[in-house]
Amino acid sequence: MCGIVGYVGRVEDDGALDVVMEGLARLEYRGYDSAGVALVTGDHTSTRKKSGKLANLRAELEADPLPPSTTGIGHTRWATHGGPTDENAHPHRGGADGKLALIHNGIIENFHSLKGSLLNRGTVFTSETDTEVVAHLLAAAYEQHGELTDAMRAVVADLEGAFTLLAIHADQPGVVVGARRNSPLVVGLGDGANYLGSDVAAFIGHTRQALELDQDQIVTITADSVTVTGFDGSPAEGRAFEVTWDAAAAEKGGYTTFMEKEIHDQPHAVADTLLGRTDADGRLTLDEMDITEQQLQQIDRIIVVACGTAAYAGLVAKYAIERWTRIPVEVALAHEFRYCDPIVDDRTLVVSISQSGETMDTLMAVKHARLLGALTISVCNTHGSTIPRESDAVLYTHAGPEIAVASTKAFLAQITACYVLGLYLAQLRGGSFADDAQAVMKQLGEVPDKIETLLGRMDRVKEIAGFMADTRSVLFLGRHVGYPVAMEGALKLKELAYIHAEGFAAGELKHGPIALIEPGQPVFVIVPSPSSEHGLHGKVVSNIQEIRARGARTIVIAEEGDEAVEPFADEVIRVPVTAPLLAPLLTVVPLQVFALWLSTAKGLDVDQPRNLAKSVTVE
Ligand code: AGP
Repeated sequence: MCGIVGYVGRVEDDGALDVVMEGLARLEYRGYDSAGVALVTGDHTSTRKKSGKLANLRAELEADPLPPSTTGIGHTRWATHGGPTDENAHPHRGGADGKLALIHNGIIENFHSLKGSLLNRGTVFTSETDTEVVAHLLAAAYEQHGELTDAMRAVVADLEGAFTLLAIHADQPGVVVGARRNSPLVVGLGDGANYLGSDVAAFIGHTRQALELDQDQIVTITADSVTVTGFDGSPAEGRAFEVTWDAAAAEKGGYTTFMEKEIHDQPHAVADTLLGRTDADGRLTLDEMDITEQQLQQIDRIIVVACGTAAYAGLVAKYAIERWTRIPVEVALAHEFRYCDPIVDDRTLVVSISQSGETMDTLMAVKHARLLGALTISVCNTHGSTIPRESDAVLYTHAGPEIAVASTKAFLAQITACYVLGLYLAQLRGGSFADDAQAVMKQLGEVPDKIETLLGRMDRVKEIAGFMADTRSVLFLGRHVGYPVAMEGALKLKELAYIHAEGFAAGELKHGPIALIEPGQPVFVIVPSPSSEHGLHGKVVSNIQEIRARGARTIVIAEEGDEAVEPFADEVIRVPVTAPLLAPLLTVVPLQVFALWLSTAKGLDVDQPRNLAKSVTVE
């Protein structure tokens, strides 16, 4: 979750500091608690670093300016080893001569033993971080090899864990060297300048031509060259791609927060994720699918691995994929999957869902699944990220950059992509749903307009949030596909308004949770469509009666025209009619909007809630 920026420009362009600081500003969304920069300045490197937000670093730079430079690195840190202090902020210097500076994203798992050997050699440490250990190792290796890339290669051979490293050395001005293992690093290709970043936002203001790096690779950039090698020194090629969104897209577009903008981006997120998924005959085609149709036809089990909101997207998709393919679908929290001795073989398809493509828990689950012989597909929103590279195939969502820490449009895009995957599998396997695939794709194609319509009637939700600014607990009830929506609504409230919120399966109410109901207790109820099977609609209306009878304040999400809920609802929020399995793409929207405005009413930081990071790249 740390933000990383590297830059080298031509001699006459000494704007390294401005480029690095701009890149860090674009990476702020990743969540951080300290920041710093380092430049090659004459016969040493110069650093400035401060705990807290970038504003603190800017103040430091104004009070104590850095000299101009063509070569620089910058870092926003989310504390892991060592608290968010000035001393623990990156960059870290290595050696005693102040010539080398290093920044790092990830965790060096063997840093204790490495630090012990350095201490035995009399190394003096100024921080509690694992990063400083690497900085000293790198400085020592530079003394030995006399060249930064060679020194980096020697050091990474001894490191265990996940890391992205960027280093500069005063004896090699005009050079930045990076290395990555299980942690993000992409290259920005400029004209007379080159860039490195933990994601493309770091350099999107300067270039949209980028290079994707593979696992265990080292990249050396100068103003006019980019050289990629393996950790073993073997020549390698990055994979060129063009960033399809520009700097403006990552701005707020006139909304008060990125989250509000992204909630309103949802019609496009769903529509764009559906684009190009069918051929001229209306049959589903998945061009990124590097798994053969024969392999997919042999699948007899699907396991979804994900975390947080992405896991709830998987829970929603489970109902539809099982219905369409008759393949059992299990949704496993990624951080549990690895340790539960999962039953996996070569007929198991493991589908990872991740907006960032860098969530370490999910990445490790994918790697574990592959070790066990499973086929793996990544549903991911971030090109050039690690999880797709570690998977057999990828199904990109096209939600565009999701900047707010609280995931919204990625959630809808993930559900959409999983529906497309389920329909594709149904089509491949034949059976009763193969013919329905096209009909369902048509229904999915109508959802963006329905979301747009729904977004136009959120004023009442905003008002309700204003009234409830002091509420201390909210419950969410749902059934069938509405159950994961209830849990997602609760998660949004927890992470945005910092209050207790819990999502329940409505049928579970009488088995305990109804004891929580007391006069005035706000309860959101996601009501299935009256056209749902198995009488689910009537059952949930009964649930509303049960909690209303005990004094609950019922806020009901119900389909247009569903009059049965009126007598028992204090508030009714109407969603357009759609197929029951597709309803989560609509019913979650009022819950997102509610959490947004409750957080706003409480004066909280909607886009960067406390303690959270946009991408959890540590286990
Ligand atoms: C969602 O609002 C949270 N920010 C969090 O639960 C997130 O969904 C989870 O960390 C997974 O992130 P990913 O999709 O990038 O893997």
